[in-house]
Amino acid sequence: MAAKAIRTDAEGTLAPVFGSIDHIGVAVADLEAAIAVHRDTYGMPLVHRETIADQGVEAVLLDVGDSHVELLAPLGDDTPVGRFLAKRGPGLHHVAYRVDDVAAVLGELRAAGVRLIDEEPRAGIRNSQVAFLHPSASGGVLTELVQIAAVHA
Ligand code: CO
Repeated sequence: MAAKAIRTDAEGTLAPVFGSIDHIGVAVADLEAAIAVHRDTYGMPLVHRETIADQGVEAVLLDVGDSHVELLAPLGDDTPVGRFLAKRGPGLHHVAYRVDDVAAVLGELRAAGVRLIDEEPRAGIRNSQVAFLHPSASGGVLTELVQIAAVHA
């Protein structure tokens, strides 16, 4: 898993803190149609489904190797994913990296001057702790840090 974040030189670079890609998030307008493609056509096992009211989404996780595809359908137009769909249409929404300690990594990134969306970790899917970095920090890619729960929901 990820090494602890440690500043390594005067240029503000960090020792590796992202363990692996946990999932890619895909914004979808039609959740059942998206499930049909990923589960039935691509053969990815559907392993979890959860409504995350806090984030305004219904989310589905499908396994692909050690990683997941996370399908995100908005609970309403006036939600982050609802606004994303209205503006950009369905498609890749974010990339999520697995970390051992999301609070520690968030602190290191803040200290390195990375623009954050979440100043503190919050509850994510399957009892994970997550935090989002601003897309401008990663070349336009919305980036999520995920600390998976010791015991999944
Ligand atoms: Co995600």
